[in-house]
Amino acid sequence: MSNRSLQLWAPAMMAAVLLTPTILAAQTGTMRQWQYTPTADGAGCELAMRQVQTPAPAPGEVQVRMRAASLNGRDRGRLDGPCPAVAGSASIPLSDGAGEVIGVGAGVTRFQVGDRVVGTFFAGTWIDGDRPEGVMPFRRGGPGDGVLSEVIVGSAEGFVTIPAHLSYEEASTLTTAGVTAFVGLFKYGGLLPGDFVLLEGTGGVSSFGLLFAVAAGARPIITSSSDAKLARATELGAFGTVNYRRNPEWHEEVLRLTNGQGVKHVLEIGGRSTLPLALQTLGIGAHISLIGGLTGFGGSIPFGVLFDKDASATGFHVGSRNDFEEMNRFISGHRIRPIVDRVFEFDDAPEAFDFYLNGDFMGKVVIRL
Ligand SMILES: NC(=O)c1ccc[n+]([C@@H]2O[C@H](COP(=O)([O-])OP(=O)(O)OC[C@H]3O[C@@H](n4cnc5c(N)ncnc54)[C@H](OP(=O)(O)O)[C@@H]3O)[C@@H](O)[C@H]2O)c1
Repeated sequence: MSNRSLQLWAPAMMAAVLLTPTILAAQTGTMRQWQYTPTADGAGCELAMRQVQTPAPAPGEVQVRMRAASLNGRDRGRLDGPCPAVAGSASIPLSDGAGEVIGVGAGVTRFQVGDRVVGTFFAGTWIDGDRPEGVMPFRRGGPGDGVLSEVIVGSAEGFVTIPAHLSYEEASTLTTAGVTAFVGLFKYGGLLPGDFVLLEGTGGVSSFGLLFAVAAGARPIITSSSDAKLARATELGAFGTVNYRRNPEWHEEVLRLTNGQGVKHVLEIGGRSTLPLALQTLGIGAHISLIGGLTGFGGSIPFGVLFDKDASATGFHVGSRNDFEEMNRFISGHRIRPIVDRVFEFDDAPEAFDFYLNGDFMGKVVIRL
């Protein structure tokens, strides 16, 4: 390029840069959003609907009209206080939600307006490989902003495409419970056809574990406090069922169902009270996924338990975006539909929390927006 043409070109480029819009398309105005809010006496926490400015996507971000969100074990206790807003944490509830892209910021090539997307747990900060240091503050629904809002914005890297056969309600259940069950069984557990799988209760993670294990040709044994839920699990393909409330020594029944062989996989979601019993169900070469603490996070694994069984245990936090996309391929390939127990309307979010905390559900509880 000659000096003369450089002189002509440089101002033109400057103008082009200045004129490049930071938003390629977006909706503006106001919208409704649920927020965790301190109760009048300041001691507790409750949900309050707010009318707020619709957020615009910054460069690299998408603007998503949320259509459904779902509740998870991690949302328990958030209304007990201290209120997340008071604790300096994000005030918008829920980590899992699905919706439609309605705006894209400059530079976004991953999605376009009209795409159906579901958010990733770590909001685009964990793409592949091991969990990077420093991503925990970005978890949606605490400490990061949640999804119980008519519109959200966020890095385009923090969303994945919804499997085509799923509704928004179904897709909203995938982010936490789905990815966690998938990662525990396949990535860390190496699930194979015929393997015995122990699933504790019929909540989100376990119900996904049931669907995945059945689809993979494995033999899931699932526990529950409810015979009706166990009957449903059998219809869905469970190999064996045990009522843990009527049968406090449920691990013995699990062992019996495996003909004494023991299970090859455990999705350990109960924690302190269930871990000691689950450890007694392990077969040779078993893998136990340390996931949750519905009875309290904690418990320990004696050296001899793993040593005697050539077994292994992995603690982990949901998974990467690539794990999510791999799960979606599995879900699409097997035409899996998540178990949605009940769908509440956006206006009825507090009732959805009450219903969920009451525990009378199987699979997932969803809020439609
Ligand atoms: N590490 C991670 O990445 C990760 C990811 C997801 C979840 N989690 C944690 O894992 C746990 C489960 O999460 P979730 O979303 O699946 O919960 P959820 O959907 O709320 O599960 C509730 C169900 O768990 C069952 N349950 C409760 N106490 C039980 C017990 N003592 N024994 C057996 N089952 C019991 C009950 O099933 P029945 O009604 O059938 O009795 C209950 O309905 C939570 O602690 C959550 O925070 C961790």
